[in-house]
Amino acid sequence: MCGIFGYCNYLVERSRGEIIDTLVDGLQRLEYRGYDSTGIAIDGDEADSTFIYKQIGKVSALKEEITKQNPNRDVTFVSHCGIAHTRWATHGQPEQVNCHPQRSDPEDQFVVVHNGIITNFRELKTLLINKGYKFESDTDTECIAKLYLHLYNTNLQNGHDLDFHELTKLVLLELEGSYGLLCKSCHYPNEVIATRKGSPLLIGVKSEKKLKVDFVDVEFPEENAGQPEIPLKSNNKSFGLGPKKAREFEAGSQNANLLPIAANEFNLRHSQSRAFLSEDGSPTPVEFFVSSDAASVVKHTKKVLFLEDDDLAHIYDGELHIHRSRREVGASMTRSIQTLEMELAQIMKGPYDHFMQKEIYEQPESTFNTMRGRIDYENNKVILGGLKAWLPVIRRARRLIMIACGTSYHSCLATRAIFEELSDIPVSVELASDFLDRKCPVFRDDVCVFVSQSGETADTMLALNYCLERGALTVGIVNSVGSSISRVTHCGVHINAGPEIGVASTKAYTSQYIALVMFALSLSDDRVSKIDRRIEIIQGLKLIPGQIKQVLKLEPRIKKLCATELKDQKSLLLLGRGYQFAAALEGALKIKEISYMHSEGVLAGELKHGVLALVDENLPIIAFGTRDSLFPKVVSSIEQVTARKGHPIIICNENDEVWAQKSKSIDLQTLEVPQTVDCLQGLINIIPLQLMSYWLAVNKGIDVDFPRNLAKSVTVE
Ligand code: UD1
Ligand code: M6R
Repeated sequence: MCGIFGYCNYLVERSRGEIIDTLVDGLQRLEYRGYDSTGIAIDGDEADSTFIYKQIGKVSALKEEITKQNPNRDVTFVSHCGIAHTRWATHGQPEQVNCHPQRSDPEDQFVVVHNGIITNFRELKTLLINKGYKFESDTDTECIAKLYLHLYNTNLQNGHDLDFHELTKLVLLELEGSYGLLCKSCHYPNEVIATRKGSPLLIGVKSEKKLKVDFVDVEFPEENAGQPEIPLKSNNKSFGLGPKKAREFEAGSQNANLLPIAANEFNLRHSQSRAFLSEDGSPTPVEFFVSSDAASVVKHTKKVLFLEDDDLAHIYDGELHIHRSRREVGASMTRSIQTLEMELAQIMKGPYDHFMQKEIYEQPESTFNTMRGRIDYENNKVILGGLKAWLPVIRRARRLIMIACGTSYHSCLATRAIFEELSDIPVSVELASDFLDRKCPVFRDDVCVFVSQSGETADTMLALNYCLERGALTVGIVNSVGSSISRVTHCGVHINAGPEIGVASTKAYTSQYIALVMFALSLSDDRVSKIDRRIEIIQGLKLIPGQIKQVLKLEPRIKKLCATELKDQKSLLLLGRGYQFAAALEGALKIKEISYMHSEGVLAGELKHGVLALVDENLPIIAFGTRDSLFPKVVSSIEQVTARKGHPIIICNENDEVWAQKSKSIDLQTLEVPQTVDCLQGLINIIPLQLMSYWLAVNKGIDVDFPRNLAKSVTVE
């Protein structure tokens, strides 16, 4: 939900001004992940001192705050580590005191930025308060900073001068919940710790010299380490170990391969990370950019390393070390440094006023990219590289369960029927949170499909873990390469829509829709009986990018409708049936989240079962009346509306005689869109609704990229 950014320069001289600007700019690119408050921590003027700047509101407010505090921007640092954060409140109001970085004490000995939630923070807080620590915020994060200080002091008193990563291992042992975490301390100058569990983190590397190898070795405690000492048990009391942790700790002590003693690993402190070795062994100037999202790193470097859960990265002396607390059978011994294929221009607004508008207009291109290299239109073949090898297993599934949240859930609803039709496998579609609440039975011969733009949504991720534990095959349909869902699923498809920054999901929806249709087509490519239907759909897909371009031309009319008839309305109904029910739900969600207008997607067949009572001459209604086999039923539903003096706006196909005739006698308007195959029509029909939600919001003066109470990536339950 929040955004993390860190910047370390080693033997690359930077002024404080440059360091501040780099951190603030990094935050600006993360703002879409959370934006109710921001903050940075950098080195102060005295040795051992830290400057923390925080502000409520957007990054621009933080910039003003820093200017007001007027730090000396000209001081230079040959080596330095700074950390930064943009927050979306989960614990504590958006107040200055709750902004990150959070600190251990008024001297700022340890400062921490954190994404995620520490679930046992209340217990930790109570214990720390009992030990005399004074808390100043309502955040769960503050207990991490205080825990660092407490464990640092206790160990020092016991004669253990711990390395920063060893100290961090002790801290992590106490934490339950999820985190992406950066810590900086005056006791470890020019060093930073980055660690994650259930919250993404990546590290960009920038160096003039070529890296020796394109990976970093993972470092483990020595196998034959002796019985670990338990520094936390000063006073013969374990410090707040939860039962699970205590068990792990005990097991670790017996197996002698769990953490936490300094001496066990002391030699590792001096092992060098091969990637950062220069030819002659001399130190190499290097910069590191740590972030929760590639969007803030790509400006500086395209060489990035994705941390895995429980990785503990320690950056110091121009080196990056990755530690893990224990060896796991079959786990990778290295982390590769990959090259990002993302251009900065891709994440900039270009000529558009908002990212949402840009992303709506990108859809001819993003939908094309989803299909690029995957569909052979000449031979009517679909090849999804990420699924090819898995198709025989998936075809044998007893059922497909599609699991997602929000817009991603709607893309599943939109394609469920075509999956069932083409694969003859029963398909259920689940909202991730409800699926988990019900503890839905899942079996080894189920195939579970997880759809997510960000690949980080907590509910979807939890459902994924639930299905993995039950032995089901898991498939991801994900936009963000390197995201948790993309990495944890057995196989999947990257939708290749490019970064989506606007909180309202638009281009991800159309690309997910297409990726799912391609998945369904792949499942049926061994079926002779489905050949004609497959050809019809594949040829339909080919035309989609061009047809979306055509619908976008409706913008001036839609803009006018939003400024006239739909202006100042309190509520809006969207009617759809069959394939268009998902479009009605998705359109209603867009309108709600961006323009704050109540809006409801209604299955047209359900009108007579209750909703009709709402209809009168005042309630605005939009109905999907495009052609498919259910067309006569849709016409009849719309007649029920007009009979109650409703005057709907009909989204219909171009030159449709039926609507042309009806508009002569009934009070209705039409928005004409191109016709395509029934199962693809939803791709076209959603575009006018995206535009409508955009203009309803802009007309009200709402910042559509930052709707109230919402964040782009929902990484809490
Ligand atoms: C891959 C490359 C693409 C290259 C193409 C050339 C990546 C990310 N993609 O695309 O750059 O042009 O080969 O042949 O390197 N996966 C999951 N879960 C998910 C999504 C994907 O496990 O949620 C897995 C897939 O099973 C696959 C891999 O990630 O093993 C890449 O998937 P995808 O990008 O969809 O594959 P290609 O389209 O073949
Ligand atoms: O990243 P995901 O696709 O997993 O996100 C799921 C929902 O949070 C998301 O689609 C949300 O509903 C959007 N803001 C809708 O526009």
